[in-house]
Amino acid sequence: MRRVFITGGASGIGRETVNRFWEGGDHLIVIDRPTLEETELSFQFNERLTYISADVTAKESREMIQKEIDLGIDVLVNNAGVTRDATCLKMEEADWDLVLDVNLKAVFMLSKMAATQMKDQGTGVILNAASVVAHNGNFGQANYVASKAGLIGLTKTLAKELGKYGIRVNAVAPGFIATAMVKKMPEKVIAMMEGKTPLARMGKPSDIAKAYEFLASDNASFITGTCLNVDGGIII
Ligand SMILES: NC(=O)c1ccc[n+]([C@@H]2O[C@H](COP(=O)([O-])OP(=O)(O)OC[C@H]3O[C@@H](n4cnc5c(N)ncnc54)[C@H](O)[C@@H]3O)[C@@H](O)[C@H]2O)c1
Repeated sequence: MRRVFITGGASGIGRETVNRFWEGGDHLIVIDRPTLEETELSFQFNERLTYISADVTAKESREMIQKEIDLGIDVLVNNAGVTRDATCLKMEEADWDLVLDVNLKAVFMLSKMAATQMKDQGTGVILNAASVVAHNGNFGQANYVASKAGLIGLTKTLAKELGKYGIRVNAVAPGFIATAMVKKMPEKVIAMMEGKTPLARMGKPSDIAKAYEFLASDNASFITGTCLNVDGGIII
């Protein structure tokens, strides 16, 4: 049974990804900020689920996460992410720091911890949540875009460094996916984005979960260092 770690697995795309790997028979280790009782996970999953209530940016969390990694890690999905949108002239330093800490630094720290164990195992998969906005920038998201563009560079670098240990590292770049993160956006922006999407709809969390499932599987055994856009064609 594979041990699949998913950060931010309590809601949105992460939650759907937990469901998908669960159905595939994996053991899920979910890391997210709420307590287990505050999530719906405890009602659905009472076995093959290890829940770590932790902030991925907190040093104190790492010991708890490390203990689980020491038991083995086959897949790490670095899904946790946040936005703190503002135009650059109005963006507070604290909002820059938070977004970069969660979306980029924590991914580096967890990937390093995972890769150390995966190297000993001689196998492993690391998957990172990028975003299509990383490719062309996005108004009001200097911090978020910088974090996601950095994540694509990090993905490629880790792929180059870790491939010889049997570790594959890939990113998925979602387009606009119907989760709480996107529902916070103004309706006219959402309508505009749907209008710009060749497939003429918002994505579903399951669209992204399926991409993670594929990239974590043996069907993707020769794929590393890529960033797979799952976006309905919005940036063509
Ligand atoms: N929804 C979209 O349209 C979209 C588009 C592109 C990229 N993404 C990326 O996909 C990922 C998931 O997005 P989503 O829409 O499901 O978001 P979401 O807000 O619904 O879920 C994010 C999850 O991450 C958790 N999280 C946030 N900060 C954390 C921290 N410090 N420690 C632990 N957990 C933390 C949250 O508690 C939450 O459960 C994010 O990385 C996001 O940037 C989403």
